[in-house]
Formats: sequence, structure tokens, C-alpha cells
Amino acid sequence: MNAKKVHIKSFGCQMNKLDSSLVSNALKDKGYELTDQSENADIVLINTCSVRDNAENRVVSHLGHLKYLKKTNPTLIVGVIGCMAQRLGVELLAHPAVDIVAGPAQIAQIPDMIEQTLSDHKRTVSITDKIRITGTADLSDDLNDFEFAYDSDENHIHNQAFVRIMRGCDKFCTYCIVPFVRGPEVSRSPQAIIDQIKKLADKGIKQITLLGQTVNSYVFVENEKTYTLADLLEMASEVDGIEWIRFITSHPKHFDESILRAMADLPKVCKYLHIPAQSGSDKILKAMNRGYTAAEYLDFIERAKQIVPDIAIAGDFIVGFPGETDEDFQATVELVKKAKYKNCFVFKYSPRPGTDTDKKLEDNIGEEIKKQRNTELLELQTKISEENNKKFLGQTVEVLVEGPSKKSHLNKSDNDGNPQLIGRTATDYIVVFNGPESLAGQFAKVTITKTAALTLFGQLS
Ligand code: SAH
Ligand code: SF4
Ligand code: F3S
Repeated sequence: MNAKKVHIKSFGCQMNKLDSSLVSNALKDKGYELTDQSENADIVLINTCSVRDNAENRVVSHLGHLKYLKKTNPTLIVGVIGCMAQRLGVELLAHPAVDIVAGPAQIAQIPDMIEQTLSDHKRTVSITDKIRITGTADLSDDLNDFEFAYDSDENHIHNQAFVRIMRGCDKFCTYCIVPFVRGPEVSRSPQAIIDQIKKLADKGIKQITLLGQTVNSYVFVENEKTYTLADLLEMASEVDGIEWIRFITSHPKHFDESILRAMADLPKVCKYLHIPAQSGSDKILKAMNRGYTAAEYLDFIERAKQIVPDIAIAGDFIVGFPGETDEDFQATVELVKKAKYKNCFVFKYSPRPGTDTDKKLEDNIGEEIKKQRNTELLELQTKISEENNKKFLGQTVEVLVEGPSKKSHLNKSDNDGNPQLIGRTATDYIVVFNGPESLAGQFAKVTITKTAALTLFGQLS
């Protein structure tokens, strides 16, 4: 019998992509074949995100397409997995295209759920009931085993891998759905993490990215010792074969200086910090329950720059939070001017059902104003990035090559017929240059000849 074909599509963050990769590997292991086209598939899995309304809307419109596909392929099985599956649960089965619903904590069960549906054609749901109070220890053991068994970089960028160090989130920013779909914060044991990193290094992985919603909250107590992110960075640095270590995302509250010192002292730890501020207005930060003021955030950024020279910092912002006045937005503009980020991500506030902000505050900033503020902040950051990036002109930087560049920028190919490649510096700058495709997954030195806000261009040196 021919192997059943599975297509998996990810709509979410790095965590979501890691989950997709684990599920893909588990299914391959069980004899399924992966396909990158839903039209050829026997099973389509959509790994969903709930963080903003538009992330969910994209899923709904994709489900519309799958409903249509089912007309020509009635045996097609469609699974909705991930955060939106956890949020909506059985409600999703009301959609005519959906056969399987599984939350982020149920990824290990997905292969069995597919088997079941293939044999009895019944629709099935598996999510966590009462996600904030369910005991997660046993669940974590299952997930740990699954994670360890099916990690691999095959579905990701060559020679790079993500390693989850914690699950869930306990910060409860008032606008955010993540604590309700990913559950309570649970750190994995340092042993499990380091064993996994060693295994990945044996497979040739050169860069690992430690993942958590708030990685700097990592804490694990064992034999009376408390392990923190700084300890993990040190332990991971000792793994032969691993050259670069990244970690995302950090939260500004309780960011321990030992992490900054680890970044300064350990050569393998990349000097890149993604640390969202969300707003520059103290009133809004308070309403968001972020736990710091704009001045405290900026003090931290200064401290980070002092301790880790040449650190690159990226931020996230939400514009149009309920009650955000022009003055509040101006405070955000001022913060962006002072922080001098490498880059930042700007999002328009999107009310999420069940969150505190949604329950208590009206989404009272009109779409036009949200759009304007979004554009203004991005334009400001573009100017800052353009200016900042000029310092690279004529410099030679080291990059880890990801592969051929999807967009063509300068020369599609050079005199030797080499394609355009994309790589990243340890500080997360994107560098585009021509070179042989065999460089994918390798380190390379590139001399920068041109700079723009989001990209550096150069030549192999
Ligand atoms: N755990 C990470 C990222 C969470 S989600 C962190 O705390 O940094 C990624 C980003 O989405 C957040 O940083 C925030 O800027 C944005 N976001 C979260 N909820 C949102 C909402 N309801 N509306 C708009 N943007 C939101
Ligand atoms: Fe959401 Fe805040 Fe947790 Fe980030 S820290 S995932 S924004 S609740
Ligand atoms: Fe990630 Fe979206 Fe879930 S940001 S954790 S996939 S809600």
C-alpha cells in the first residue's frame, strides 16, 4: 500500500513551528510521507495561532479552501491543532472541513488520532480541560519524551534547531491569550535540555535557539540547586559542535544580570536580545500588567548595552491598546527613539476573548488610528535601522548561512553562476550575498557593500 501523505501548515510563532516539526517527524517515523501541497495530501494538519484575530481569520479562510478540496477528495482528513484548537475546542468540529482537533499539549497524541480517524472515520477532539489548573507534571513527561524522540532540523533551516526550555506562561499580560492556550509556566529539566542539545550536536546542528514565552523566567530546582537561564547558557556552551546559542523571547521584568554576564562572557552565546516593551506609556504598561515603567525598561536597555558591548536589541509594541491617547502613543515614540532597536515588530491591538483587557476595556481606538500609529512607529524604526546599519559598510561579518534567498535583492546570480544566499550574523542581522548553495548550514565571512533598514548586502570574503 502506498504511504499516506501528510501536509502540515504552521500559522504561528517559533513554538508553533517547533510543534509542527515534531509532529512531522513523528508521522514520518510511523510511515507517513510529507508533502508540501495540500492538494496531494491524504491528511492536512493546520497548526494554528490565537494571538491576534487576523491569525485566526487566516485559519478560517484556509479551512474554507479545505472544505472545497474535500469535495474532490472526500476521504481527506483535516486536523486543526495548536493554540486556536485549544481555545475553541469542540466548537471547531462545527466546521464541515474539520475531523481532528488537538491542543498544543496533545501533540504527542496526533499520530494515534489520525490512525483512529482513518479507521473509524469519526471526528475527534483532544484538548486540555481547565488548562490553568490541570496538573501538568505527567503531561510534561509525555511531551518531553515526544520532544526528545522527534527533534530534528530536517523540517527547519539546515544545521539549526529550536530547543524548548519551558512551556506556557504565567505573566498574564492583560491583552494576551497565550497563558490560556499554552497553560502554566513549566521549565524542563536542565538534564533533558542538555541531553537534547548533545543529541542535536551529534546530528551536525551548529546553532540552537532556546525557546520559551519568557525564557529569562526559566527556573528548575534539583538537588538543592536552582538552575537559571544563565546556568543553561553555560552548560549549553560546553556542548562540542554547538557554535551559536540564541534564546527567545525575554521579558523585561526580573531580567537577571547573570544572563547579561553570560552573554558577555560566553563566546558561543549570541549577543542578541528580543525583549518586548509593548508600550512607552506608564499608564498603558500598568493596564497591560507588564510590571515595569518605561524608565525602568530604558535603564535595563542601557545596562544591557554596558555589560554586553555591541548587543543587538529587538522589541515588540502594541499600538491602539484601549485608552491609548496621542500622549501615550507619543511616549512610545520617545521610547523607540531612545532604545535604538536593531528592529522592532509592531502589532495593532486585537481583543482576545477571555482576556482581562477584553473583559474590562472597550476596544475603543479606531482601526484608522491603529493603522496610522502602526505605520508611524515602523517608519521611525526604519529610519533608526537605516542609520544604525550604515556602520557595517566595509566591515566583514560572520554569518551562519541559511540557504538561497527567497526574494531576489541584488544579483540573482554572480559571474560564477552562484545564487543569492541569505545568512544571519550572531546579532541577528540578515545578510544577502552570492555564493555556492553548498554553504547552507555553514559559517561564512561576508564583506558588507550596501546596507538597508532590514538587510545588509555583501560579498563573500
Ligand atoms: N511571549 C512573548 C511573545 C508573545 S506573543 C513575549 O511576551 O514577549 C508576540 C507578540 O504579540 C507580543 O510581544 C505582543 O506584542 C503581541 N501581542 C500579544 N497579544 C496581542 C494582542 N491581543 N493584540 C495585539 N498584539 C498582541
Ligand atoms: Fe503573552 Fe505576556 Fe506571556 Fe508574552 S509574557 S506570552 S505577552 S502573557
Ligand atoms: Fe505562538 Fe500564537 Fe500560540 S504566538 S504560543 S502560536 S497563540
